Amino acid sequence: MPFDRRAVLAGAIGALALPSPRRAFAADEVARVDALIARMTLEEKAGQMTCLADSFRPFNPPNPQAGIQDEKRLAEEIRKGRVGCLFNGIGVAGARRTQEMAVKDSRLGIPLLFAGDVIHGLKTIFPVPLAEAASFDPAMAQRTARAMALEATAAGLHLTFAPMVDIARDQRWGRVVEGAGEDVVLTSLFAAARVRGFQGRDLRRDDSLLACPKHFAAYGAVSAGLEYGSVDISDETLRETHLPPFGAAFAAGALTTMAAFSEINGVPATADRELLTDLLRGEMHFRGFVFSDYTADEELVAHGFAKDDRDAARLAILAGVDMSMQSGLFVRYIPELVKSGALPEATIDVAVRRILYVKTAIGLLDNPFRSLDAQAETTRIATPAHRALARESATRSIVLLQNSGVLPLDPGKRQKIALIGPFGADRANLYGPWAFYGDPDQGVDIATGLRAAMADPALLTVVQGCGVRDHIEDGIASAVVAATAADIVLLAIGESQDMSGEAQSRTVIELPPAQQKLAEAIAAIGKPVVVLLRHGRALALHDAVANAQAVLATWFLGSETGHAIADILFGKADPSAKLPVSFPWESGQEPFFYDRKSTGRPVTDEHQTEYKARFATTDNSARYPFGHGLSFTRFTMSDLKLSDAALRWDRAIEVTAKLTNSGDRAGSEVVQLYIRDRVASRTRPIRELKRIERVTLKPGESRTVRFSLSRVDLEFVGAGNQRIAEPGEFDLWLGQSSVGGLHGMFTLYVQEQGKG
Ligand code: BGC
Repeated sequence: MPFDRRAVLAGAIGALALPSPRRAFAADEVARVDALIARMTLEEKAGQMTCLADSFRPFNPPNPQAGIQDEKRLAEEIRKGRVGCLFNGIGVAGARRTQEMAVKDSRLGIPLLFAGDVIHGLKTIFPVPLAEAASFDPAMAQRTARAMALEATAAGLHLTFAPMVDIARDQRWGRVVEGAGEDVVLTSLFAAARVRGFQGRDLRRDDSLLACPKHFAAYGAVSAGLEYGSVDISDETLRETHLPPFGAAFAAGALTTMAAFSEINGVPATADRELLTDLLRGEMHFRGFVFSDYTADEELVAHGFAKDDRDAARLAILAGVDMSMQSGLFVRYIPELVKSGALPEATIDVAVRRILYVKTAIGLLDNPFRSLDAQAETTRIATPAHRALARESATRSIVLLQNSGVLPLDPGKRQKIALIGPFGADRANLYGPWAFYGDPDQGVDIATGLRAAMADPALLTVVQGCGVRDHIEDGIASAVVAATAADIVLLAIGESQDMSGEAQSRTVIELPPAQQKLAEAIAAIGKPVVVLLRHGRALALHDAVANAQAVLATWFLGSETGHAIADILFGKADPSAKLPVSFPWESGQEPFFYDRKSTGRPVTDEHQTEYKARFATTDNSARYPFGHGLSFTRFTMSDLKLSDAALRWDRAIEVTAKLTNSGDRAGSEVVQLYIRDRVASRTRPIRELKRIERVTLKPGESRTVRFSLSRVDLEFVGAGNQRIAEPGEFDLWLGQSSVGGLHGMFTLYVQEQGKG
């Protein structure tokens, strides 16, 4: 059976109500586009299929400076109709000038599409996507995506190369930071929410920003986490783990996607017809257009798949790439490829049609100056409302990993605080990767945030101690002096923003030795230490850092970093985030994820570990598991009930439990439902997340949480790539992380005709 998109979606996102996949293009739009194509020369068609860096308004994006056209040349190309899309330039005045070249000076006047990497904010920088996923609150991501869309479209953009929906199970891979972590259901929920947020309800509105879920597909599955590396993957894993977030994004209305740089099973994604056409369009029913990634078509030569650039262009187009990013290969070779018979013109027409449909769908053909409003540019960007939202989402993204009781700090108490570490007063690493439109001096650093929250800011001492990677002279000595004089130490350590993101694969996911040494020296003094970790991936923590009195995962939080951290430290907000990635004990456990397989020799008794599936040097569990995150209050769960111990084939069961806030502060908990299929025709993970629900309770308050489960939730990709559920026994846990929880069991029955 082919890939059943609806079933995959239902399996991936459970009970979430989805809009039915939209019918993207109306009949009159089709006729209009066809009429236009009939008038286009081959060169103009190739132009529509070409997207180039906007060298009129250069920024400093993290791409190699390959093939950048100078301004004069780019203007000429636009006037000749040899460009369909520009990317990574912002600003309304410049965009208007450029659009005029396309509309007034080119023969057919087809407007340009303006695209850009607005990954977690334009000017107001929200937490990196991985951080935001820690909120376990897709509705929050939808709100921040909407705010990003308001800013991006006010700056003249029509499309963002986001969300990244790649599942990341190896923390050595630097791009973990751009996605929603290791889990299929969580990533699917965030994928759909972000698409909805970017695009809004009506694509024609001038504040609707087209989404481009990327990188199709399995880009996060590169071997050893090596960026741009190879992916060798089974059909089952591809379909069960890596495709559902794309399905969710398409169902939420995404009309573009981007092919991955990597190869899958020996074929580079950019040239993989089975992937980009048979699977993406034939089985997943994707209706929009496909971008190549940055010069990825040209890279088919280095892959050893195309013999030269001309061949690379041909292979990418035949595979199903519609829009070439940055190489310029399409415009250079398409006319000749078609004339020589190496490429059918009909194939080109299909690609151009897809691109023009999308331009039509956002109203660009009717109004080329859509989203180019100088007034909006002054009122919709970096607004106080967006700042407030950035603070709220940053506060929601901070995970309390451990706490001996030292937190929250009492804002009324006169205590001396030493803020030590390379990130205490640092402003260069607040935003994280992919925030290159943001103004670096507009972010609130930790020291500033703390001072604003303290009754007496003079009680704060700030000492750097060491650089991110290097020792500094007298650094540790001055830090020790400050810590000795303080009542409590806040240790702001971790990764700089250039240590994660694209091309930042690391073999060791630990703190740089200079920072570990600083942490050891501070711990030796014996003052309570709160670690404020900055990072774009899960880290393996050791010794003084792992043994600190409290540890907070603060990722890269964006514009409001300092305020959000202060809100949590002083208890103005209760931490309620959960880990979207498992923190292993050691780097060498990677790839590590919670929904792994049992193996034939699982460790069931920690005293009997010989000849078991574990490393000789470390337990193969997590230091902090997926879904883990503490609160300042205490939540307890009780009274797990299943409406029926038998789940009939076409029915559902209801699962309920009582959640109680048994502490003395208000707080929020994310209740998580996991299952395990005990016996199946394909071995199943030891646990799989199926549902999440965020609940906010006052002290002493209880609430019953309810979930419904049906057969679809139990399906997996079995033999012949069929999605199937198999009758039999299932474990179920309702808990506060992927470890422990209330346990129940049920049995799935095939319902006999006329019975039950
Ligand atoms: C990245 C894409 C990004 C593109 C444009 C590439 O290097 O892989 O995710 O959208 O550059 O900046």
